[in-house]
Amino acid sequence: MKKAIYPGSFDPVTFGHLDVIERAAAMFDELTVSVLNNVAKSSLFSVEERVNILKEATKDLENVKVDSFSGLLIDYAASRDIHVAIRGLRAITDFEYELQTAQTNSMLSKGSLDTVFLTTSLEYAYLSSSSVKEIAYFGGDISQCVPDFVKELVYEKYKQIKGK
Ligand code: PNS
Repeated sequence: MKKAIYPGSFDPVTFGHLDVIERAAAMFDELTVSVLNNVAKSSLFSVEERVNILKEATKDLENVKVDSFSGLLIDYAASRDIHVAIRGLRAITDFEYELQTAQTNSMLSKGSLDTVFLTTSLEYAYLSSSSVKEIAYFGGDISQCVPDFVKELVYEKYKQIKGK
């Protein structure tokens, strides 16, 4: 069985991520989308919320599983017998960091974890979770960036934060 993992922060998942998920799911028998539980990075949504959002957003893709992980990606992947990591490349600006991470993972795993890059579809090349959050924070329209139910959850989150 050809398995792959798509790790990330997904805070929140965007149409760009969903495009990569759909395309990777078509290439592998099983795709695990896994949310990094990163204590060092503050996030808008908790890991549990992000997992639930991803589950809802990918519910029609039968071979997609959603999970979370802590620690090193190579350890998590090895524990699930997964040897391919998927990452999306939006622009040349992503490349340096992604190349370094992919090579580090290859070195750390002694070649057991390879990274496959999918270039983001042009229509989503400008999208990032950070810009989605910034637009929403200032009351802008994020309809073209995230599914409707995610849009509502993001606005609701900022309403709660600002109401405090
Ligand atoms: O969506 P992001 O924030 O760009 O995802 C980054 C992620 C989660 C893929 C990356 O930070 C990661 O894999 N972190 C786990 C820790 C790890 O394995 N580090 C070693 C590689 S440098």
